[in-house]
Amino acid sequence: MLRGSVYFDAVPLVIVALLLALTGCGGPFPQSTLAPKSDYTGAVDALFTNIFWWAVVVFALVEGLLLVAILRFRARAGAPAPKPVHGHTILEIGWTLAPALILVFIAVPTMRTIFATAGHAPEGALRVEVIGHQWWWEYRYPTLEITTANELHLPVGTPVQLEMTSADVIHSFWAPRLFAKRDLTQGRTTRIAFTPDSTGEYWGQCVEFCGASHANMRLRVFVDDARAFDAWAAAQRGGAARAASGSAASRGEQLFRRSACIACHTVAGLSSAKIGPDLTHVGGRTTIAGALFPNTAEYLRRWIANAPSMKPGALMPPQALPDADLDAMVAYLQSLK
Ligand code: CUA
Repeated sequence: MLRGSVYFDAVPLVIVALLLALTGCGGPFPQSTLAPKSDYTGAVDALFTNIFWWAVVVFALVEGLLLVAILRFRARAGAPAPKPVHGHTILEIGWTLAPALILVFIAVPTMRTIFATAGHAPEGALRVEVIGHQWWWEYRYPTLEITTANELHLPVGTPVQLEMTSADVIHSFWAPRLFAKRDLTQGRTTRIAFTPDSTGEYWGQCVEFCGASHANMRLRVFVDDARAFDAWAAAQRGGAARAASGSAASRGEQLFRRSACIACHTVAGLSSAKIGPDLTHVGGRTTIAGALFPNTAEYLRRWIANAPSMKPGALMPPQALPDADLDAMVAYLQSLK
């Protein structure tokens, strides 16, 4: 009576499973190693594809032979049992050599990729120091005299040398479309070298458990064309913007000077503390709080008022400020382009 109904009941399930599987194929791949945008991830992707096809060959061969054995040698009524093969020299040399050769074809490109991605950039590469903090990233460009946080800007087509360390616990730096993950450890310098090949915005995050807000330690990499990068670098090198007197931003600046903020944050010409991110150009960034929230007035306001409620463990203590003062402070930070 119910014949076939089990089959039809399963149809919606199959469709849902297919849809879920297909969502994995959707763009724009903000964090996919399989959508490479640098020489580094290009090499890893090529190696992955190479090994994948060897695995397909091995799978097809093994499963094919298995099917042949099942079909040809299965027990049949009245038929004699199949005779096992013993001491077939050519067969034994064959199945020893073939896997050894396949391993060589996998090992050689693997070793090549390991050395190519070991972190040694060519002469003249753009050096960037990356310092991991609980829970944000500090970037220093020693040759450009720039210090910024969380959002890394790089010029397209230029080799980059990241020199990384940690201010506290172990972190790990990863922007999947540009480079593989590498740890940042206090007292040591680890390196990543790569050349981004396409402009765009790439997402990444910390990938080594580093405390309460490990999952909230994100990052963005902006790969700019030469002109945009030069403009960004020129703006970063400039001092902090001065607010027009009488404006809300100017009132915010006065508040900032008198607040606890200057005990932790640098604003060029006003404070030079290094505990929190450099805020000299914070208004020019697209995100705040370790690339966690969009850099809007609303989020800035909530962040200043009570950072730990938005990001567990955040070291910045809540600020009990009247609404008008909060608004002025937000206006000031937004003016720091
Ligand atoms: Cu930093 Cu996890």
